[in-house]
Amino acid sequence: MNSLLLLRSKSAQMLSASTRLGTSQVSARAAAVRGYHATSVRLGQGSQCKQTIESTEKFMINTYTRPELVLSHGKGSYVYDTDGKEYLDFTAGIAVVGLGHSHPEVAAAVADQATKLVHCSNLYHNEWAPTLAQKIVRATMDAYPQGSQGIYAKAADGSNGSARVFFSNSGTEANEGALKFARKYGKIVAEQGILGKTASEALRGDPNLKCGIVSFTGGFHGRSMGALSVTASPKYQKPFTPLIPGVHTMKFNETRELGTFVDERTCAVIVEPIQGEGGIHPAQVDFLRALRRRCDQVGALLIYDEIQCGLGRSGKLWAHQLYPEDCSPDMVTMAKPLANGLPIGAIMASNKVADIVKVGDHGTTFGGNPLACRVGCLVVDRINTPELLDHVVAAGEVLEQELTKALQPLIGGPVVEIRGIGLLRGIQLSSDPAPVVNLARDRGLLLVAAGGNTVRLVPPLNTSIGDIKKGAAILAECIKQRSASA
Ligand SMILES: Cc1ncc(COP(=O)(O)O)c(C=O)c1O
Repeated sequence: MNSLLLLRSKSAQMLSASTRLGTSQVSARAAAVRGYHATSVRLGQGSQCKQTIESTEKFMINTYTRPELVLSHGKGSYVYDTDGKEYLDFTAGIAVVGLGHSHPEVAAAVADQATKLVHCSNLYHNEWAPTLAQKIVRATMDAYPQGSQGIYAKAADGSNGSARVFFSNSGTEANEGALKFARKYGKIVAEQGILGKTASEALRGDPNLKCGIVSFTGGFHGRSMGALSVTASPKYQKPFTPLIPGVHTMKFNETRELGTFVDERTCAVIVEPIQGEGGIHPAQVDFLRALRRRCDQVGALLIYDEIQCGLGRSGKLWAHQLYPEDCSPDMVTMAKPLANGLPIGAIMASNKVADIVKVGDHGTTFGGNPLACRVGCLVVDRINTPELLDHVVAAGEVLEQELTKALQPLIGGPVVEIRGIGLLRGIQLSSDPAPVVNLARDRGLLLVAAGGNTVRLVPPLNTSIGDIKKGAAILAECIKQRSASA
């Protein structure tokens, strides 16, 4: 908690794309900002990678610029390319492979379920979706047994917590669904005239007036039209305007304009408790508390996007559980590590919200399939243990200490700040982090950049302390080498 309070708020504006770029330039630049730079390595005719890369260029729609390597397999915190080179993976598939690569229990569960039932659609029940939903809800509620806010509010029968789950296939879809649920909630409360305490009479009875959504600078919520509309980054939004109406952007970690932006016409506020893509920026306690209060005042729903920061990455099951209970959300969206790499996403919504979603309101063909949900059960069981969560905290502290020790002379110069929580860490540099990411890859360490010149560190949650130290040492060397040659 202390480290959370100490973390400073930084503007997490992503680099802005210049106007009038061609599509390939836009995608190359977007990819470059995210750290996927082509290496200067020239692949020989015999290279297995070469053929794959040629086919990618010829047959795939390229929205990423990737380095010239093709990954073929992994084990724990390591991955290997088709030319046999080993890499320590501090990307974990962008915070996805929480339990590490080719985890034996995950592999066994996938193999066994594949011989039974992979998919049956939502026309029928399957045994794994409700089992996973129950695990997620029960594990969540344990954090605040005396809770009274949002998803932690007591159920009608007085039992602890009152949330339900909808499964999707990705983080974007989870956010899209959460926004739809909020829109419907807004319509219903407006129609019934049960708006927040400050609602003006004029709003009561008109279902279309409570449809505004507020999101924040530096946030990232996905690429579908709804999720993109709340991702306040010109780089991502500009090629696809006009976006959905009624979305307003507020400055992250600032409450001054809350009264102006969040009013009776607002149905939802969506925020990441720790911004990931935006450059690893934790929300301040007072900021989240103010959002909760304001949402209650105006009858809006508070959505926490925990797609990157949730499911153990902060050292708690949910990043919002680092905060007091009066910062609790009405909905939590999750995805990335939930099935250790199999596509899955989910919305956990308080009963107040879940009750207004009716048959036919929303749907998905693949979401909630028995394969992903079975693996999800295993993941939640393995992540939600004191041993694993304590390890994340300890490993995160070692990572920070090692980097701070090695980079001390550069802090305030080429290194702007080392920040983050658990195994969601960032090193903000004073210049483009891509050369450091490329150098590290050449030395066998995979890293991914984030917004605001930040190198992001999101290794598997069970990475050993030895490998954490090894990764920190390689990274520190690369930053030193780069700043010496700059
Ligand atoms: C916080 C956050 N929300 C949403 C998304 C989108 O998730 P997906 O790529 O699974 O659609 C991401 C992906 O990076 C994310 O980090």
